[in-house]
This record gives sequence, C-alpha cells and structure tokens, in this order.
Amino acid sequence: MRKRIVAGNWKMNLTFEEADELLDELMTELEQASLPRDAQVVVCPPFPFLEMTTDYANDSYFMVGAQNVSEREPGAYTGEVSAEMLKSCDVQFCIVGHSERRAYHGETDALVAAKVNRLLQNGLRPIVCVGEVLAEREEGRQLEVVGRQLSEGLFHLDASQMAGVVVAYEPVWAIGTGKTATPAQAQEIHAHIRSLLASRYGDATAQEVSILYGGSCKPSNAAELFGCADIDGGLIGGASLKAADFMAIVKAL
Ligand code: PGA
Repeated sequence: MRKRIVAGNWKMNLTFEEADELLDELMTELEQASLPRDAQVVVCPPFPFLEMTTDYANDSYFMVGAQNVSEREPGAYTGEVSAEMLKSCDVQFCIVGHSERRAYHGETDALVAAKVNRLLQNGLRPIVCVGEVLAEREEGRQLEVVGRQLSEGLFHLDASQMAGVVVAYEPVWAIGTGKTATPAQAQEIHAHIRSLLASRYGDATAQEVSILYGGSCKPSNAAELFGCADIDGGLIGGASLKAADFMAIVKAL
C-alpha cells in the first residue's frame, strides 16, 4: 500500500528562532493528532536548520527532507551538499526538480536524473517535482510536458528503485500564486502519471508510488484534493510555514 504523505517545503524562509518555534508547535500538535496509519509527515527546511529539525524529528512523528542535493560525489565543490552528508544527518527525503530550481538554477531533466541516482545510492527517497508552466497548459501540452519530465528524469530507474521515489505534480502556474488546480485538473494529471508508471513498470509498481499535489494547497482545499483517487497527499509551500495551517492540511490526509 502506498503511503499518504504531506511534505512541507519551507523554501528560503524563516530564521533559526522562527524555525525552532515552528518545529516546537508542530511537535506538540502532532502528538495530539490521530493520523491514519499510512500517513507520513515530512518537513523540508533549508540546510542550516536540518540538524535542529532532525533533533525534533527524533522525538516526534515527522520525517525530515532536504530541499536540494548535489549531483556529484563528495569532493571539491564549494557550497554544495552531497547525498552522503544528508544521509549522515539522518535526512530521509530530498526534493528534486522543483520548478524554482528548474527556473532559477538551470535544473534540467538530466540533472534531476543524476540527483535522483545519488539519493537512491545513499538510501534517501527523492521527491521528484514535475509540472507544466502556464503557457504549456494554455497550449494543451501539460500531459506531454509531464510525460517528458518523468521519462527523462526517472524512467532510467528499475522498478525497485522507482518504488522508493515520491512524485509531486506541481503545476507551475499554481505555485505561490493562490491559484490552485481544480481537483479534476489535478486528478487528470495524477492518473496520467500513474498510467505512465504502469506502462513503464507494471501496475504493481505504479500502485506503490505516492503522487503528491503541490501548488497553493491550503486548509480550505486540501481535503477535496486529497479525496481524489490518484492524489496521495501534498507538497506544501506557503501553508507549511504556519503550524495551524500545515496541521490542518496534514489532518486532511
Ligand atoms: P505553494 O508552493 O504551496 O506555496 O504554492 C508549493 C511548492 O512550491 O512546493
């Protein structure tokens, strides 16, 4: 059975003190929440807060993800962070291919594939983001774009590796804009992603992969989105920065 997952992507937000306060609130709220057995909560802070976050996670019900990783093996790469480093800090997940990294840092499908390999070699679970920009949706190319991102970023993996990957569908026009995809729009793409996984890996593997929705997901729309057959949770940006909002989304799982 695939997991239902809510992952918070803090992006480049919060100071150390603010992060500490948010983690403290999350820990308290998670202790009181009764979540379904197949639910997982993941918090993805910026690198400087990873150690503090894993300390909290040791005493709480959430897991920790990073927001980026180097595609290279450890060595002389100033400013980069290796998969080995993340693993040694007890990080279990890592976001790859986020649209902000694709847009501002030249993260291509080939780079996504290389980062996914480094993570899997180190036993970390990649959360791989795919999604079309507004112009591509207006041209009706969303299925083609997402299909290309999957096949070039992920389909070199074998079935057992693929089963360890989480896919996040994030229509770029919905990220941080307040415009959410309708449940029907999101479900259409999620079902398409699962059918592509099934054609490449077979139905059993396709059923194992959690596919999250991301893009202006908030307490008021989470339950409806997560109620769709192929939507297994969410990757949450803005609403993950307030404990009450994030927990309301977690409780919609
Ligand atoms: P948002 O971001 O929830 O602020 O739209 C989602 C994401 O970028 O992962």
